[in-house]
Amino acid sequence: MSSRETTERALAVHRLLNSQRPVPAQPLPDGRRIPLPDVHPPKADLVATLARRRSTYSRMDRDLELAALSGLLRFSVGVQRFVPAFGVEEYPLSMAPSAGGLDILRAYVLVRRAELVEPGVYRYEALSHELIELTCADPVPALQHVYLQHEFVTNAAVSVALTARLDVAFDKYPLRHYRTLHVDSGVAVQNLYLVATALGLSCCAVAGFDDAALGMLLGLGDAEIPTMLFAVGHSD
Ligand SMILES: Cc1cc2nc3c(=O)[nH]c(=O)nc-3n(C[C@H](O)[C@H](O)[C@H](O)COP(=O)(O)O)c2cc1C
Repeated sequence: MSSRETTERALAVHRLLNSQRPVPAQPLPDGRRIPLPDVHPPKADLVATLARRRSTYSRMDRDLELAALSGLLRFSVGVQRFVPAFGVEEYPLSMAPSAGGLDILRAYVLVRRAELVEPGVYRYEALSHELIELTCADPVPALQHVYLQHEFVTNAAVSVALTARLDVAFDKYPLRHYRTLHVDSGVAVQNLYLVATALGLSCCAVAGFDDAALGMLLGLGDAEIPTMLFAVGHSD
């Protein structure tokens, strides 16, 4: 079976599970590139961080500091190392391991309030450690249709959205990998939780979202599906 046929089958399962038949969104053109600053890794002890980690349900009503946003992305879903693989000498592997080392996950950053980053929708480019602006409209009105628990719309200073690329997944693996790419997402979520905690941030993983509304907000084509949201910021 071709990877396109497998992707179609996975989408059929996905739509059945969500009771939705979303129309593929218009892709959002790449806008400004916003370099993220180099930051030192947090020094927190791993077991202490695991023990301190919590989900936060209170308002994160301060701008997310740029260094904190940079550190969160760099150390949870940034590039960890390069290896010869897939026909290239320097294939990037992520801080979050993925099945087969495939570059399936993408991270998007939905900014309600952050230092030096305007409200809008951005894609994180791990290789260059940059944000790529996709829209500079305030995402809050759209997020009201995305989060099933509306408190997250105003609680989160920033929402990180994880997506999975089905075309990349099914180029290599059979349909059963539909399950594994959700595991890849879970691994990345735990990285986000631990790095956020080590940086002293408040956060919460959120599986309760409307797939079609999130896909529209991110401008996802039909071969890329949203898998998780992660609300983050500073709590007072
Ligand atoms: C994969 C995953 C999805 C979650 N989705 C939601 C969600 O949609 N809404 C919510 O309020 N909390 C969500 N949470 C947070 C959990 O409810 C929380 O982790 C759990 O109650 C344990 O609390 P703790 O994280 O403070 O230890 C999610 C957590 C995980 C790991």
